[in-house]
Amino acid sequence: DPNATQHRTAFHFQPEQNWMNGQSLLPSLALCPMYYMGFYHLFYQYNPLGPTWGRIVWGHAVSTDLIHWQHLEVALDADHWYDEKGVWSGSGSFLEDGTPVLIYTGWSNTSTQTQNMALPADKSDPLLRQWVKVPQNPIAVAPPGFSSDKFRDPTTAWKGPDGEWRILVGSSEGEDNRDGTALLYKSKDFSTWQFSRPLHSVNGTGMWECPDFFPVRLSGKLGVEPSSLGPGVKHVLKISSEDKKHDYYVVGNYSIETDTFVPDSPQLDAGLGLRYDYGKLYASKTFFDQFTSRRINFGWINESDSEEADVSKGWASIMGIPRKIWLDVNAPTDLLQWPVEEVEKLRISNVSRENFTLGAGSVVPLEGVIGVQLDIEVSFELPDMGQAPTPTELLAESGQSVCKRTGAELNILGPFGLLVLATADLLEQTAVYFQFVQSKEGWRTLFCSDQSQSSLDPYVDTTTYGTYVRVSEFDPLLSLRILVDHSVVESFAQGGRAVITSRVYPKHALDSSARIFLFNNGTQNITTHHINVWNMNGVKMTNFN
Ligand code: FRU
Repeated sequence: DPNATQHRTAFHFQPEQNWMNGQSLLPSLALCPMYYMGFYHLFYQYNPLGPTWGRIVWGHAVSTDLIHWQHLEVALDADHWYDEKGVWSGSGSFLEDGTPVLIYTGWSNTSTQTQNMALPADKSDPLLRQWVKVPQNPIAVAPPGFSSDKFRDPTTAWKGPDGEWRILVGSSEGEDNRDGTALLYKSKDFSTWQFSRPLHSVNGTGMWECPDFFPVRLSGKLGVEPSSLGPGVKHVLKISSEDKKHDYYVVGNYSIETDTFVPDSPQLDAGLGLRYDYGKLYASKTFFDQFTSRRINFGWINESDSEEADVSKGWASIMGIPRKIWLDVNAPTDLLQWPVEEVEKLRISNVSRENFTLGAGSVVPLEGVIGVQLDIEVSFELPDMGQAPTPTELLAESGQSVCKRTGAELNILGPFGLLVLATADLLEQTAVYFQFVQSKEGWRTLFCSDQSQSSLDPYVDTTTYGTYVRVSEFDPLLSLRILVDHSVVESFAQGGRAVITSRVYPKHALDSSARIFLFNNGTQNITTHHINVWNMNGVKMTNFN
């Protein structure tokens, strides 16, 4: 990849080199503010030997603002029989006295998956550089009837009023292991763990990786502690579908008395319904940030180029910008997601325009702004649906397949939106846009990210992503927030009701050659309510050593 340097991101977390994959934990260590105050810890799946997946260890970085990171030494190495082939995903928890604990999956010398625990060597080190694996490891092996190669990725622990700690481990069961499940383990002392039962399973969804299980408030944007219960909260189960390589979540009711989880909507059950991201985001994990009382989700974004390109770049994968998440009061089966506000500190020069018409069939450059590190906010007035020709087709298709089929080409109403990472001649462009389609339920709004013309390099995956996004009759505007960082485009529609992350590898829309255009391919004028674009500073990822 001759453009490897230009494709490296400037304000997303990346190791200095080599391979990274999803997630581990990321607790804010504010439970013991005396020692840990201000440090967020990110542990990630890391191959120190090269830019492809291999013998994985836990990379470690710390930050005071979730944006500027400092790389530390490997936190957990593959050095015991139970994790010799790899230290796989896990989560962090805090004991009641504030001690952080890591529980993770080891890939053992005989290729079985085991659950293990590690404690800080020195609790008074705010950077928590050294970890000690406990002598009783493994603390769990696959229970009878479950495959030892489908037993991984323990969650953060929560504690019931009965004094028992609980964690979930991802697995699958049933014929051919087609039924994804999250296995509940319990412990009275956080040392010995017993298998209890599957907390939840969904037929046909395949192996569940990286489960996440957490409470959310019924209203408001604040997060709550992992052990919160009661009438003021719902619970969210998120699973990473090994089959589909997407993170799916479902909101429901959790009873600690019976240890049962009942989704609010069976059609939207885990692995079937809602996704955090309709582009690329996998193995994400949330944590409760006690400093700011936010629940924050952090996800892994892999590459869309070839393995050969990764080898030549010397690195593969990035972390998304951490997202604050909370329940949507107006659609309580859904979560809302928004980039943490800390990212706004990187904003520098700003260009803004208000209230102008995007004529039917127009492509208009946004003057005064160039570059590949951007934060964009744009909103459009809702077009008059009465003016639209009555469509004859009733769509029962998925959002993505409609976006794919129609692309950013002329449609019924719209598409209209933005072209980013575009060359002046438009030969390279990544389109992020809305369009309307008629369905059995009436007009629906599609939100798409079309990568088909993102690069003249023929070897990159240019799949088009898309989803329907809820627009209520009370919404005055259609809005987008787009973070652009060299080879990643993260787009949030309608205040975070739907998110699409794309990876793109332009050959020419690099650095100061990259431009922004507004376009309207529809047959009716669209009014742009406002557009604000900031150039973004990059961050230096420093080394503590
Ligand atoms: C998710 C995952 C986990 C596993 C780890 C291995 O991306 O496959 O299931 O623990 O990565 O690196």
